[in-house]
Amino acid sequence: MENSNRIPTHVAIIMDGNGRWAKSLGKERYEGHIEGVDSVRECIKAARRNGVKYLTLYAFSTENWGRPIEEVNALMELFCKSVMAETPQLVEQGVRVVMIGRRDRFSDKVRSHLDKIESATAAGEHLTLVLAFDYSSRDEITTAVKSIASKVASGEMSVDDICEQTITRSLYTADIPDPDFIIRTSGECRLSNFLLWQASYAEMYFPTTMWPDFKQEEFDKALEVYAQRERRYGKL
Ligand code: FPP
Repeated sequence: MENSNRIPTHVAIIMDGNGRWAKSLGKERYEGHIEGVDSVRECIKAARRNGVKYLTLYAFSTENWGRPIEEVNALMELFCKSVMAETPQLVEQGVRVVMIGRRDRFSDKVRSHLDKIESATAAGEHLTLVLAFDYSSRDEITTAVKSIASKVASGEMSVDDICEQTITRSLYTADIPDPDFIIRTSGECRLSNFLLWQASYAEMYFPTTMWPDFKQEEFDKALEVYAQRERRYGKL
């Protein structure tokens, strides 16, 4: 799944370090999230310019609901504002937005913004921006297992029909190729419930840069790191 010039087809990013970035500058955590939106904008531009076809961003995990209610509300508000402000540019740049994750726990307002951005950008052909929002990998896999089990129970499918492809096709990412390259900013070296099934052969990169400082140059630098990697997929 990669272009001939060693540009990854699919880059997935765990955007981490907004709070620490803000605190280190004596600001409120929320200001880190605001600057983080600018990094989102920059990385979309850099991904498109480099010919990356899919960019997945871990915007809100199922665990993030456990943060103080003020921060959760601020993130939801920021998301709605960003959707309204960014949609025209995304359409102009040919970016298609798709969401992965649960949809049943958002307010009507947030859900309607999600629907709006997906339908307004549906014709975008240059880059697919996948927003993981109320997403966690274990939750995704559990949902997939339930859907497969109910097909078996109803006789639509037999146990012997179940193969890796069955699971892949039952995930939120059914129509999205596996990530080639996963980046987590801020120096933390773990996946935190992100794309666990899909990450099987992904290259990983853990720069110490905090997300608000991860702009186009950092994205380009990450692609240079990827270009040096040798991918063997378990072979010699
Ligand atoms: C992690 O930093 C970041 C988040 C939980 C939220 C990410 C959201 C954005 C960048 C803005 C909205 C995004 C879109 C797509 C419009 P942290 O708060 O965990 O930082 P810390 O580890 O330093 O505390």
